[in-house]
Amino acid sequence: MSRPKVFVTRLIPEAGLNLVLNACDAEVWPGELPPPRNVLLEKVRGMQGILSLLTDRIDGEVMDAAGSQLKIVSNYAVGFDNIDIDAASERGIFVGNTPGILAETTADLAFTLLMAAARRIVEGNDYIRTGNWKTFKPMELLGRDIHHATLGIVGMGRIGTELARRAKGFDMEIIYFDHRMRSGKGESSGARMCDSLAELLARADFISLHVPLTPETNHLIDNAALARMKDSAILINTSRGSVVDSDALFDALKSGQIAYAALDVTDPEPLPPDHKLLTLPNCLITPHIGSATVATRNKMAVMAAENLLAGVSGKVPDHLVNPGVLPHHKMEGASNG
Ligand code: DGY
Repeated sequence: MSRPKVFVTRLIPEAGLNLVLNACDAEVWPGELPPPRNVLLEKVRGMQGILSLLTDRIDGEVMDAAGSQLKIVSNYAVGFDNIDIDAASERGIFVGNTPGILAETTADLAFTLLMAAARRIVEGNDYIRTGNWKTFKPMELLGRDIHHATLGIVGMGRIGTELARRAKGFDMEIIYFDHRMRSGKGESSGARMCDSLAELLARADFISLHVPLTPETNHLIDNAALARMKDSAILINTSRGSVVDSDALFDALKSGQIAYAALDVTDPEPLPPDHKLLTLPNCLITPHIGSATVATRNKMAVMAAENLLAGVSGKVPDHLVNPGVLPHHKMEGASNG
């Protein structure tokens, strides 16, 4: 029996890649950068599966270029804003993602950014390296207390919940707002739900974003949202860059409307080295490393590979993003995985 043909858009950890190579006739894009659009359109032709990254835009054009035999797009990420979900469902194509396994690791990074911003760690490091450390100074590099400060979590899904657990250990007061009105999730960590985002923005000392990127959350943090924050507020973003309006954030940081931002995701991404946000001392930026630990990236690779292998054999993947596909799915040979 012939092996399913799949295209893997980048080298992923061997733990998952080997599962794919052992079971499929796989082509793996070897480049350090994502395949250019024309290459992607060319490479997917005739494939039954695509293992994609968040940097690949997988829309109807890519699906049609692949052909009607395409059964699954398996994303090596929990976020799937790079994929046109409706287009996939209409064409009977499963979409898989990697939920859960990266929640603690990403929450670790969000809390790391919170602490680094509060205690001005990067500025301190630069201060020494640029020869400014002459003596102990009573009023130099003063930061903010983390303990007993108020943390506002926007989006109380798995990552937000893990962040709340960490914050509880630091005696923070935790408040949250959830667009999907998921109440009860944060309460186990002592978090209290706010009635509105506006209330959270006005009350929090630290605001951490954990929403998926959707039309509703695009530029959720805009001029008006920033204007509601305290002038001492510290904004943390480990979700998607476009949840924050970068121009509005620049203006708010530059004018002192808010105190600090710590971003693991940016808009645009990657951020060009001459971007205006990089001129600000009160903006700490890391290169989208929320899930970047050896163990978590291995787990993501295995989960993405397992979703892919299920999909190419006509089974519903364990981590299906688009249940809307099921009515459109050609059920010949399909089982419930
Ligand atoms: C995701 O999974 O969506 C993260 O942004 C990358 O791991």
